[in-house]
Amino acid sequence: MHKRHIIIIGFMGTGKSTLGAEIARISHLPFVDLDEDIEKKVGICIANIFEKYGETYFRDLESERLEQLVVKQDKPIILSTGGGAVLREENQRVMMNHGFVVNTKATREEIVRRLQNDPHSRPLLAGDLEERVDRLLQERNKAYDFADFTIQTDQLELGDAAKLVWTVWKDVILKGDFL
Ligand code: S3P
Repeated sequence: MHKRHIIIIGFMGTGKSTLGAEIARISHLPFVDLDEDIEKKVGICIANIFEKYGETYFRDLESERLEQLVVKQDKPIILSTGGGAVLREENQRVMMNHGFVVNTKATREEIVRRLQNDPHSRPLLAGDLEERVDRLLQERNKAYDFADFTIQTDQLELGDAAKLVWTVWKDVILKGDFL
């Protein structure tokens, strides 16, 4: 099957990693967080990668690891991506071709509230947090629309959200939609 992974996309602070880890727990599939994977490969955190080498270097690594994780691996995984992994069209194509793509959404207020708890790990939010979030939300207005399924993470308990994604995915598999 081509679309064998569950790939989670969405704006920063919408709960991608938490949801991905929970789907992995209930499905017994391996969980990979793309940002953590990149940090492990480079040996420094995302903020330092941006600072030392710049955003383009990070985006190149992001595309490279995405391809290695979803195209070159036969066994299904649950993959949470970073909020900007959708920015390159080639990445979108890779995700669509190889995974059931789930878009996590939350209200602007909820996003700001969640990101306020962790202001230093995201280089694109340096400065006025609310102003940066508003600008990026506007710039990325349609960037996540290619997903197969969208879930509003601030209206569901984490466990219910994970169960819903897993149920929908199994239904898709049973119907053979993506075979
Ligand atoms: C980014 C989101 C971050 C991380 C990097 C860039 C973005 O991941 O990949 O700071 O461009 O939206 P999270 O969405 O997990 O915060």
